[in-house]
Amino acid sequence: MEIIRTIAELRARLVSETGIAFVPTMGNLHDGHLHLVKIAREHAPCVVVSIFVNPLQFGANEDLASYPRTPEQDCAKLETAGADVVFMPSAEEIYPTPQQITVAPPPVADQLCGASRPGHFRGVATVVLKLFNVVRPTVAVFGKKDFQQLFILREMVRQLNLPITLVGAETMRESDGLAMSSRNAYLNPAQRLEAPRLHRALRQVVQAAQGGQHDFAAIETQTAQYLTQLGWIVDYIAIRSANTLLPPEPREHELIALGAARLGTTRLIDNIGFAL
Ligand code: PAF
Repeated sequence: MEIIRTIAELRARLVSETGIAFVPTMGNLHDGHLHLVKIAREHAPCVVVSIFVNPLQFGANEDLASYPRTPEQDCAKLETAGADVVFMPSAEEIYPTPQQITVAPPPVADQLCGASRPGHFRGVATVVLKLFNVVRPTVAVFGKKDFQQLFILREMVRQLNLPITLVGAETMRESDGLAMSSRNAYLNPAQRLEAPRLHRALRQVVQAAQGGQHDFAAIETQTAQYLTQLGWIVDYIAIRSANTLLPPEPREHELIALGAARLGTTRLIDNIGFAL
């Protein structure tokens, strides 16, 4: 496995590759990321993983400075997982000058996670497009835990005619149901015990909707109140169309229950796709 830090070296290394599967990450890798690498292996002879904590997608009061950075451990895990190349650029390498040209995501980027993280998806789409232009993958793999991110990146690929197939990988979970996330490391022991409740609450949302409760707004409000009573700071609990991420039309069948809520200062997100 090669570790490369500059765009010029990466381009030189990849120029003769016939097919590249790409896994963009921000590092602090867990089994969820390694699952993405495994899927990437199935799609192309060369697997490239990037590790880059992207300043453009963090708000002024967010955790950019404290975001966990564990490059040595990450590279050891990637070696074992079978990555061919790890791209670990500096912020100056990706943004040598202020990034004045950015990708404007679709309006749904201002809802759900975007409502409490203004500019987040513009930052994500911009860095992913830049990384796509550097790596030039045939396939890129993203986790479905960040369903809104995957949705927006699919729209970017479609609307900008990028010759890349996006693969969505199922969310990997701890044995108690908590979705794997680098931010789980921030949880203290009591919060870690409480954290799987978000997933359980979303399962109850799905059960209520599938059980015939048609007032989705009421389900969302009740679930948010339930979590709030237990000490969560809820950003949203929402039932949306899995195809548009908008509130479902009356007879839509493919739906998704999504939630984002904080325990202390740690923001957790999760979702469950379901059919009606
Ligand atoms: O999901 C992430 O880790 C990041 O948003 C991504 C896609 C690597 C872009 O920085």
